[in-house]
Amino acid sequence: MERKFLMILAFAASTSAVSAAEIAPSSVVYVDGAVETSLTGVPGDPENGRKVVSSKGLGNCIACHEVTDLADVPFQGNIGPMLDGAGDRWSEAELRGIVANAKMMFDGSMMPSFYKTEGYIRAGNAYTGKAADDTLGPLLEAQQIEDVVAYLTTLKD
Ligand code: HEC
Repeated sequence: MERKFLMILAFAASTSAVSAAEIAPSSVVYVDGAVETSLTGVPGDPENGRKVVSSKGLGNCIACHEVTDLADVPFQGNIGPMLDGAGDRWSEAELRGIVANAKMMFDGSMMPSFYKTEGYIRAGNAYTGKAADDTLGPLLEAQQIEDVVAYLTTLKD
């Protein structure tokens, strides 16, 4: 009985440590466009990353990129390079940097910055007509970025 309680305590402590480790968009460190440290400390889930990449409401990466692995998803764009082999061309840290803020890797890129909340001129709030406040989050959450990176590393030639 007592032992079980201690295990629950240990579990609660470990999960709160994980969320405390999450790096906020404004605190991400870029070195030559790459981000060495995981944004969450939790390994990415490539299956979920695959979903984020192909979903219009999430990453919608295929609006600009073709991926052979996602051939079942219609209407793939070709504004950006094909993502096949991205896991061979780039390291995990480089992929994390590209997905979090592609402008750090590709100067003036038209690829959206998926993990960024500052430095935008935001349109006003449509309902109140006031300027948008800072409560708008990044386009993708930290764990979604990690999941997308985990998926991209599986794309080998
Ligand atoms: C609006 C179009 C657009 C969207 C949406 C977009 N990208 Fe890109 N992406 C680009 C362009 C353009 C480049 C080429 C680099 C540059 O900007 O010069 C690029 C480059 C890349 C690269 C490096 C390509 C390589 O293999 O050499 C990766 C990886 C990548 N994007 C992943 C993603 C992922 C993952 C998403 C979704 C979360 C995404 N992109 C969404 C336009 C886009």
